Amino acid sequence: MCYIARRMGKLITPAGEKVTPVRALVTGAGGFIGAALTRRLVEGGHQVVAVENGLRGTPKRIADLASRMKLVDGDVRDPATASTATAGCEVVFHLAAVNGTENFYQRPDVVLDVAVRGSLATMDAAIEHKATVKRYVNFSSSEIYNEPTHVPTGEDERAMIPDVRNPRFSYGGGKLISELLSFHYLQRRGVAALVIRPHNVYGPDMGDEHVIPQFVKKIGEAAKAQGVALGQPLAAGAEASAKEVRVQIQGDGTETRSFCHVDDFVDGLLIATDRGGDGEIFHIGTEEEISVRELLAMVGRNLGVRVVFETGPRTAGSTPRRCPSIKKLGALGFAPKIGLEAGLRGTVAWYRESYKFQG
Ligand SMILES: NC(=O)c1ccc[n+]([C@@H]2O[C@H](COP(=O)([O-])OP(=O)(O)OC[C@H]3O[C@@H](n4cnc5c(N)ncnc54)[C@H](O)[C@@H]3O)[C@@H](O)[C@H]2O)c1
Repeated sequence: MCYIARRMGKLITPAGEKVTPVRALVTGAGGFIGAALTRRLVEGGHQVVAVENGLRGTPKRIADLASRMKLVDGDVRDPATASTATAGCEVVFHLAAVNGTENFYQRPDVVLDVAVRGSLATMDAAIEHKATVKRYVNFSSSEIYNEPTHVPTGEDERAMIPDVRNPRFSYGGGKLISELLSFHYLQRRGVAALVIRPHNVYGPDMGDEHVIPQFVKKIGEAAKAQGVALGQPLAAGAEASAKEVRVQIQGDGTETRSFCHVDDFVDGLLIATDRGGDGEIFHIGTEEEISVRELLAMVGRNLGVRVVFETGPRTAGSTPRRCPSIKKLGALGFAPKIGLEAGLRGTVAWYRESYKFQG
């Protein structure tokens, strides 16, 4: 059952026009994407209620915005917290989740608990406050495809959990449940819903449990162990004469991913929220597909070295190819602006500083 979205103020204000503030709830606002979204909304003149429990992220990421927004130190699974935070909001961005492969294996119960109870509590709150809540934006994941049958992958790709006994799929399974709840629980009770499937979002301070920070760490530690000094970032192709660092990787390096800079991601999210219809699903990412070995070389270049890698076994459950089709959101005006080579510069520099890898 589909309801026509009631009018909501716009999050994107054309240059020269006066902002009409929209009140938005952001759950998981201390996380990587939540913090970037909160910042963009506050700086765009909107009112934000941010909920974060510090399970993975930290409200420190948005501490400088504290006087311009409302920060709730609470758990989205708690119905009272969810209800109070939602009161008066026009849009709910539900990002709170337990991400990170290590968590999928070690705490699948918590991963599922937050996915299911967090979705239900925030959806019940949106239903309770549906007089003001015009839209609920649910954050799912590209993980729901497992190994997609088509690449670039469209939003109509089948979803699947290959093995319910494998804890790896607690995350993808939890996301699938939350998508089902968006369409068959929330919408049926009169709240307009959107589902977003992010694809490999990156940027400075993205959290350590992702491939880009892990590569910076791997190369930095290997360089130290091999007595190689890191250098200044190099232009593409200029690493041929740079010092060599040997690292070991999981898989044979032919796996692919497509990385979307967080600034582009937030652009896409605001476009989807403003212009997407009730009940729509959107990919947000880029169609710039790159192999793990190319990524490793790029990270190495940014650390001023040439990386030589040895292959290892591929992690069970990891997907050989991932690249979204972004045509659907493109038709609404989304076009990523930051290419990976440019976007990696700031990200690698941030992690180099954070891990204290000097030259
Ligand atoms: N980063 C990506 O590339 C990516 C890809 C696919 C999907 N996603 C989804 O996008 C959303 C944001 O991702 P992210 O990279 O910012 O993740 P993140 O881990 O940095 O942020 C999630 C935040 O939710 C908070 N949280 C967890 N449980 C909570 C609870 N019970 N109550 C309150 N807060 C809680 C965490 O502490 C964390 O700050 C998540 O739903 C994630 O699953 C992200």
